[in-house]
Amino acid sequence: MKRTRSSVVHQAAYAFKNPHKIVPHLRRLARDTWFRLRTRDHVAYYRAVMKSDTARDPKGAVGSHTHKRWLALGRMQFDYLVEHGLKPECRMLEIGCGNLRAGHLFIDYLHTGNYYGIDISPDILMAAQDTLVQHGLGDKLPYLTPVRDLRFAFLPDGHFDVVHAHSVFSHSPLHVIEECFAHVGRIMKPNAWFDFTFDRTEGKEHQVLREDFYYRTETLVALAEKYGFTATFMEDWERLPHKQSKIRITKSAT
Ligand SMILES: C[S@@+](CC[C@H](N)C(=O)[O-])C[C@H]1O[C@@H](n2cnc3c(N)ncnc32)[C@H](O)[C@@H]1O
Repeated sequence: MKRTRSSVVHQAAYAFKNPHKIVPHLRRLARDTWFRLRTRDHVAYYRAVMKSDTARDPKGAVGSHTHKRWLALGRMQFDYLVEHGLKPECRMLEIGCGNLRAGHLFIDYLHTGNYYGIDISPDILMAAQDTLVQHGLGDKLPYLTPVRDLRFAFLPDGHFDVVHAHSVFSHSPLHVIEECFAHVGRIMKPNAWFDFTFDRTEGKEHQVLREDFYYRTETLVALAEKYGFTATFMEDWERLPHKQSKIRITKSAT
């Protein structure tokens, strides 16, 4: 495995080497403190962060500061999932689909109506509609739905072959991930799989400004097992130029 992704010592060293980033970080700290004071829970807080970031730049809001990077990050997710089992006939749920950085490729590839994207941010979903228009994908009739939690109460039993969440749990406290694991099995087919990325630490688990959360692999594996899943750390994803790690969970045989 690669070395620990982040630590307080690493962050301090990073700040020392990148003094030009200290002022933007302090600005973000002020903004996030304001949002935290005005919102009742994590999802409402993060929705406010997304509203602010999307107003500035939708691509930046999902973590890509240039169009080239946005395309490359989408392509990386897409190619990996196709190499690891995604077929055009699969029914796919993308949790935290953002403005369809990878979603536009999934939608193009999957059969009409087989892509279902959800997100807590209505603002980024409107940007997702712009992406559909720009890529001429309206006739693939994807679903794009805002959600307030990860209980999936409005979705049918045993419906999806594939569930995908890229760079979502890296912004989620553990109780949000637990809510997802507690409910996602119901909407997955028996042989479905769920791939998600996370910010991995091999040291102490921590968060930065309640925007970025760092977990140990064994924490997420144990949480998945608690809800009847088998979890696999995707070693070959580590070879790709991406700072997060990936786990695949499947329903354990009963
Ligand atoms: C860094 S962006 C990544 C977007 C997309 N997965 C991609 O790779 O381009 C994270 C997205 O997850 C959404 N999100 C964060 N927490 C969520 C939650 N608990 N449920 C659903 N969406 C969430 C955010 O609104 C945002 O659109």
